[in-house]
Amino acid sequence: MKKITAAIASAVIAAAAFSANAATYKVGTHPTFAPFEFVDAEGTPTGFDVELIKTVLKSQGDEAEIVSMPFDGLIPALLTGQIDAIISGMTITEERQKRVDFSTGYYNSTLSAVVRSADAGKYKSSDDLKGQKICAQIGTTGSAFAEKLSPGQVVNLNNEPDALLELKNGGCEALINDRPVNLYYIKQAGDAAFSELVDEALTSNPDLYGIAVKKGNTELLEKINKGLEDIGKSGELKAVHEQWFGVAPE
Ligand code: ARG
Repeated sequence: MKKITAAIASAVIAAAAFSANAATYKVGTHPTFAPFEFVDAEGTPTGFDVELIKTVLKSQGDEAEIVSMPFDGLIPALLTGQIDAIISGMTITEERQKRVDFSTGYYNSTLSAVVRSADAGKYKSSDDLKGQKICAQIGTTGSAFAEKLSPGQVVNLNNEPDALLELKNGGCEALINDRPVNLYYIKQAGDAAFSELVDEALTSNPDLYGIAVKKGNTELLEKINKGLEDIGKSGELKAVHEQWFGVAPE
């Protein structure tokens, strides 16, 4: 009897010691951005970003709790403390850096456009889209790019699937969004439906993704940066990258 009690007591102490050091961080994402974040058949968020942040925090003895929310609600949620961090294919921009702190960049992306395949001959460069109605995801760098091409003519939608539906139905002439995501959805829909329009102007738009934390949250930021470094060395980063992109990171 005594032995069991002692064993339980030490287990309780061990658990307490563990939880005293291990933290669970709430990480916000907008999971309609495959292959970075999307929900699987069971409704669970998954994808490169989701697995990346879990691996990063785990490498530091912590855990991630994924919280889904609209893209334009992520920074406000971080500022009001509803979440501790954001991983959502979020480009490090000067504008955002005024409001949040970013980790070291973890993925190099660019933009491209999606057009209806029937129009692929008509729209060959981003210049051809000038003045046309362009769909985009609200609050994204793709939306900002579209606004420069077609001031006042941007149709902002909540997510990529909605934007593609709008494009399909003729509500806009193109969708501008991050290239790897466009390629993923084009592949899913089939090239009979959609084609990619890509040119120098679009691909020279650098979209380096970073993980955001509240300004001044150096404790978490340092953990994340250390985690990114550690999993880079251990080969875990390579494994996660291969899992979602089929190739090792450059
Ligand atoms: N990289 C773009 C940006 O930061 C688009 C990100 C959209 N992400 C998402 N999960 N919906 O503006």
